[in-house]
Parts: sequence; C-alpha cells; structure tokens
Amino acid sequence: MGQQSYNSAYDVLVVGSGAAGLTAALTLAEQHKVLVLAKGALNSGSTAWAQGGIAAVLDAGDTFDNHIRDTMVAGAGLNRRETVEFVIESAPHAIARLVDLGVPFNTEGENLHLTREGGHSHRRIVHVADATGWAVEAALLKAAEENPNITLLPNRTCIDLITGRHELRYSGSGRVWGAYALNTETGRVEAHTARATVMASGGAGRCYLFSTAPRGATGDGIAMAWRAGARVSNMEMMQFHPTCLYNLEVKNFLITEAVRGEGGRLINPRTGKRFMEFYDERLELAPRDIVARAIDAEIKRFGLDYVHLDISHMPADFVKEHFPTIYDKLLGLGIDMTTGPIPVVPAQHYTCGGILIDLAGRTDLPGLYAVGECTESGLHGANRLASNSLLECFVFGEAAARDIIARWDTFDTPPPVRPWDESRVTDSDEEVIIKQNWTEIRRFMWNYVGIVRTTKRLERAAHRIKLLQEEVGDYYGHFRVSTDLIELRNLLECAELIVRSALKRHESRGLHYTLDYPGTIDPPADTVLVP
Ligand code: FAD
Ligand code: SIN
Repeated sequence: MGQQSYNSAYDVLVVGSGAAGLTAALTLAEQHKVLVLAKGALNSGSTAWAQGGIAAVLDAGDTFDNHIRDTMVAGAGLNRRETVEFVIESAPHAIARLVDLGVPFNTEGENLHLTREGGHSHRRIVHVADATGWAVEAALLKAAEENPNITLLPNRTCIDLITGRHELRYSGSGRVWGAYALNTETGRVEAHTARATVMASGGAGRCYLFSTAPRGATGDGIAMAWRAGARVSNMEMMQFHPTCLYNLEVKNFLITEAVRGEGGRLINPRTGKRFMEFYDERLELAPRDIVARAIDAEIKRFGLDYVHLDISHMPADFVKEHFPTIYDKLLGLGIDMTTGPIPVVPAQHYTCGGILIDLAGRTDLPGLYAVGECTESGLHGANRLASNSLLECFVFGEAAARDIIARWDTFDTPPPVRPWDESRVTDSDEEVIIKQNWTEIRRFMWNYVGIVRTTKRLERAAHRIKLLQEEVGDYYGHFRVSTDLIELRNLLECAELIVRSALKRHESRGLHYTLDYPGTIDPPADTVLVP
C-alpha cells in the first residue's frame, strides 16, 4: 500500500467509460490526449445493460415537435425547453455517428427498424434487438481502444476531484485539476491531473434496495462534484421502471418497455384482468411514472408480490425475434414468455437529477464538465421519457468535447498537486460495518423514499442519514480507502441529496409523488441544492 502521483501526460481526464464518457473521449481525441478511468471493468456501467434502444425522429411521419412534446409531457413540464430542443434535434446526427462506428441496428428494408415505448406518440426507437446497450458499448470501446490518443484504464475508483485546495502552492484559482483514484490492482491512490476533467460516472440507482442498475451505480460522480462545490438539481426525481423481473434469485433483470410497446399487457394475477384502464387512458403505454405507480397501487391493494406482464398472445416467432435476450434468460428460469405471463415489479431504474450543467456540459466549477446520467441537463424534467437517456449521453458527450476543444487555449496546465495523504489511516478490521450500512441505506431509501412518499417517511430517512453520516465519516477518517468504502460514502451523500430535495418539493410532479402535497404548483421549478 502506498501513494503515487502522476504527471499529467494527458490533456483531458474522463471519469467513466459508458456511452457518455466514451463519446466525449472519441471527440476529444480528434485533437487531444485523453485518459479514461473506469471503476472495475470498462463495460461495467449501465450502458452495456440498456435494452430498449435510442429515441430519434427518423420516420417520415414523425417530427421533432412530436418528440419534444412527448419529452415534456413525460417530464411533467419541468424540462428546460432549450435543452429538449437541442438534444432531440441532434438525435439523427448521433445515430448516424453510431452507424458509422458499426453499431448493427435492426433494419427494415432500407431503413432502421423503429420500435415503440411508453410515452412516445410514434415509433422512434432504434435498437439492436433487446440488447442495444451491449452493441453500443462494444462499438464505442472498440473505437476507443483503436484510437492512439485514448488511454483506457479500468480498475480505478475515483475518490475525489483534485481542486484548488490540493494545489501544492495554493493559487486561489478555484479550478478542478483531475481526480484522485484508487488503483484496485495495486491498492495505491493515484493523482490523475489534466487541463480539463469530464465526469461521466453514471447514476445513483444503487441507493435503492431494488434497482435495475449495475452494482457500481453508486452516484460517485454526483457526490464528488457536490463535495467539490458544484450545485446539483432535481435529485428527488428518481425513476422507477415498471417492469423488473420478479424472481427470488435474479433480482435486477429488466423486462424492456418495448415488450409493452409491441403489445404486452399488464394483468392482475388475482383477478386475471388488465388493470391499466383504471389508471390512464394510454393504458400500458402511459409514461413510466404513471405505470409504476399503478403497479405499486395494485400490489398494495391486493396484497400481491408482483403483477403479470403478458405478451403470449403475440406469435411466438415475433416474440423470440424481438426479444431474444429476454426470451433466453427467462427460459433459463423456467418462464416461457411465448406461452405465459412474466411476473414483474417496479424497481429503481434511472437518476433524473444530478450535477447541474449547461448546454455545453459545463458545471459550476471551472475545468469540470459533466455528461450523461450523472447530470441534470434539463432534458428529463420530472420524469425521463424512455430511451432518451442514451441519446443524452451521445449529444452531451460530443457537446462537452467540442466546447473543451474550442476553449482549449483558456485551460492552463495543471500545477503540482499534493499526493493522497494516507499517513493517519490503517487497514480496516471491521468490513462488516460497510456491508451493514450499505444494506441499511438501500432498505430505508426503498421503504421511505420510494414510489409514493410522505413527509413523515422522508423525515425518518433524513434522521437515519444523519446518524449514519457520523458513523461513516468516522470510519472514512480512520481507515484506508477501499472501493466499498468509497461507494458507501457516496451512496450516503446521494441519499442525503435525494431526501433533502424531496423534502423541499411541496407538490406532486412526475416521479415525486407525495401524499402530503398531492397537487402541483405552477410555474414548475427545479430543486437546486447549493453546497
Ligand atoms: P454508465 O454507462 O453507467 O457508465 C458509468 C461509468 O462511470 C462506468 O464506466 C463506471 O465504471 C464509471 N464510474 C462510476 N463511478 C466511478 C468512479 N468512482 N471512478 C471511476 N469510474 C467510475 N437508456 C436508454 O436510453 N435506452 C435504454 O434502452 C435503456 N435501457 C436501460 C436498461 C437498464 C437495465 C438500465 C440500468 C438502464 C437503461 N437505460 C436506458 C439508461 C441508460 O443505460 C443509462 O442512463 C446510460 O447508459 C448512462 O450512461 P453513462 O455513460 O452516463 O453511465
Ligand atoms: C427499457 O428498455 O425499457 C429501458 C428503456 C429506457 O430506460 O430508456
């Protein structure tokens, strides 16, 4: 164990190797040397898990206005229209870029095949069967690996941003100069400095007991940026996907919304009847917040463990062709979706809030950009429209990179910074504390800060967070960092941001639904937290 300082051989540091980070890196590499760090394996983020696809107006009968309207209806008016227009109008270019990179999107004749998902008034989702993210991540990684200007370093868990207060000779610049990262292969903490830093670290879904997101979605980048002094916004807007597989062994397998898009019906297993007609005229294709709340209500009202999602009325070949990954996975668990229903429950799925950015991905902190799920760009508002998030990663990944390239001459060379100080810490002999606290946070967030909220439950969660902060702070101050400890600290930080934001919003809008404030307040306003 020890510490190590790196001279900045790279111009730009990118934290994260998902859709957002790799898109930024590939654009930056046209002019600059880029270092990309990832926690664990390079493809361990949410991107590789994406199923449904990417939304873009590509059909002759569709228009940008339609997609903009659908996005703002789903977002319950909290979206920033300027951002929505920017992203949606950039979508055809983003898809063309992915086609050029070799992503094998499904086609229909000469055109890309378009599927449909909840909240979309038209078919506009390009996809690679039901494993779009896997294909996208593979294509981006291949291009990055082949690019001589990009260095990819897996197994680096970033701990904190390097800022002005870490400069060897304090300059008062207020700049971000890179990040300290734990190299999990050597156990050393490295200081990676660069002229500009792009945070692309994904969401904070693992704050919740049940989540479709991968293990590493612990909100590290949001917490790092917040600790460094950046504002975060709309953290109460946590999206729950209506249809996560209910299975006691496989806890976070998503059943894509495209199953409903292609005719799947939600059925109450007790009554044997479709129930969405009691909740919304758009039935199974209502926006996610509405469908998730309807399932939650049905489960609570009838004392169910799950509801059924049934597409067995469609021809078996159609189901197998459209959903080969899901079909195989379910068959392995003894469920044949071509002949019977799939048991499903809602689970946390997407972090709509995050680090506040402008249209170029700039944060409040000079030298720090942020892109992808760790941000709040104004696109999603109070509820993300399905398949708009990968799109956001591509559009903002490129926008941030272009802005850095355009302003390059204004970015100074990083000064010498202090190495990570481990002189007062020892190896932990009580790893059980980390596990216990991790489980506790995820459980009370699920129970108290879930799909339906009350002020009392939020206050209970706030109280638990306060107690845990003392314990985790004490532990962090005394023991050598590990990925688990870094993640626990960040989960707790994000849980606090979510609960604080939820307590500030005295209305029900989109994903924030509270029994104490059932109405909406106009005009819509973001919940912005200032460090
Ligand atoms: P990610 O892809 O999550 O990548 C985060 C990166 O940051 C990873 O490389 C990770 O290792 C790294 N990282 C994190 N913390 C650290 C740290 N401390 N130090 C160093 N590196 C770190 N969206 C759609 O638009 N369409 C879909 O069909 C779709 N399906 C989905 C299905 C599932 C099951 C899930 C979970 C999400 C889905 N989404 C979908 C959402 C979408 O996949 C994500 O929003 C998007 O992939 C996020 O990309 P990203 O680049 O921001 O982050
Ligand atoms: C899904 O395939 O249902 C997920 C789509 C998304 O999260 O955008």
